[in-house]
Amino acid sequence: MKILVLHGPNLNMLGTREPGIYGSQTLADINESLKALSAELGCELSCYQSNSEGALIDVIQGAIHDCHGILINPAAYTHTSIAIRDALSAVGLPIVEVHLSNIHRREPFRHTSMIAPVAIGQICGFGGDSYLLGLRALFNYVKNQ
Ligand code: DQA
Repeated sequence: MKILVLHGPNLNMLGTREPGIYGSQTLADINESLKALSAELGCELSCYQSNSEGALIDVIQGAIHDCHGILINPAAYTHTSIAIRDALSAVGLPIVEVHLSNIHRREPFRHTSMIAPVAIGQICGFGGDSYLLGLRALFNYVKNQ
């Protein structure tokens, strides 16, 4: 089983970016903990971050050939990007949406997700653990498909 992990804009700045909201883990730390979990579960991971909507869409489209599911933190594109939602919908793979912060207890503009309606589920508010919980959930979903 191969899972694509996607990180949206500004997540490359984790560690220094608003640590009171996003914690002190860097993106490399998060990817490392995901790799450790994937080794335990027995699946392959491909991790990718971009600040650009088009680049994320290209990678989503590419996943149709060799991935079984997508774990995505679309970051600010969560709230705005119909194009990313359409790409996720088009590839037809199981999607899990994750966020470090609890988007529902933050500013009202963060309460809406364009992505949630095309995802199996959404996990938010647990910092780096949101990704680990999301990977476990996606792995089990794909395994039981
Ligand atoms: C985020 C929440 C988004 O609202 C925000 O734009 C981000 C990060 C999170 O992981 O908590 O960049 O997706």
